Amino acid sequence: MGLALAQELACEHNLVLTSSQPWRDEDPWKKQLSSQTQIRTLHWDASDPALVSQMMADMEHLGAEGIQFQSAILVAGIFPEQPFGSWTAPMLQEIFSTNLAFPMLAAQAMAPHLEDQGALQILLDTAIHRPLSKRLPYSASKSGLAALVPGLARLLAPRVRVVGHALGVVLPDEGSDPTHLAELNLLKRNGTPKDVLRALRYAANSPYLTGEVLTLDGGRRWA
Ligand SMILES: NC(=O)c1ccc[n+]([C@@H]2O[C@H](COP(=O)([O-])OP(=O)(O)OC[C@H]3O[C@@H](n4cnc5c(N)ncnc54)[C@H](OP(=O)(O)O)[C@@H]3O)[C@@H](O)[C@H]2O)c1
Repeated sequence: MGLALAQELACEHNLVLTSSQPWRDEDPWKKQLSSQTQIRTLHWDASDPALVSQMMADMEHLGAEGIQFQSAILVAGIFPEQPFGSWTAPMLQEIFSTNLAFPMLAAQAMAPHLEDQGALQILLDTAIHRPLSKRLPYSASKSGLAALVPGLARLLAPRVRVVGHALGVVLPDEGSDPTHLAELNLLKRNGTPKDVLRALRYAANSPYLTGEVLTLDGGRRWA
């Protein structure tokens, strides 16, 4: 989803993208993404023990260039099936590290670099309303992140706003049946990256909005 969002946003905005993988052969795809705007890349890996200092150094570097952000969109998350009975400490550590600790640390690093009235936007999951039985660790990590939204909003107000987006199915997991998944919500279709983008733009352009989780799931939680 990060790529799909970046492709749409790159036409209008300068972007700073992060990945847990080292960026290779950047020029061709950067040109493909946008010829009018600037794309910068950072290497941030949730499992890197030096993550916090890396984040702080990168943000300081960008700040020294006068770069400020209108929005920070926290996309990172893994979505493994982890049925009860199969849980192990390293498995839970990995999912909480990627889905919860990483966005928390990214929020901490990015908040001082947002413009006044800028928005920290966090991608959550409608599983915060209706936990997924085979993915309880995933659901719990997203619920933890949802709890962060009003907490961070209070901490960062009035300068920075914080908004969460509890998404339903947008890009179905490999091996899942998109038609079946679409049947599970009230609107009988899966979401699209454009749906997500509309919500991200709404939140970015709504200066009186903070501390809220917007649910964008085709009514899945009411079905
Ligand atoms: N797809 C959906 O239908 C859907 C539905 C509900 C909620 N969501 C939420 O939307 C977000 C994006 O979902 P997606 O389907 O696009 O997932 P995805 O394709 O698996 O992308 C996961 C994202 O997490 C990053 N990531 C993975 N491991 C990381 C690590 N160790 N350190 C730092 N970043 C790491 C990936 O970046 P790199 O691989 O470049 O590091 C990528 O940007 C997730 O938070 C997900 O929970 C998605």
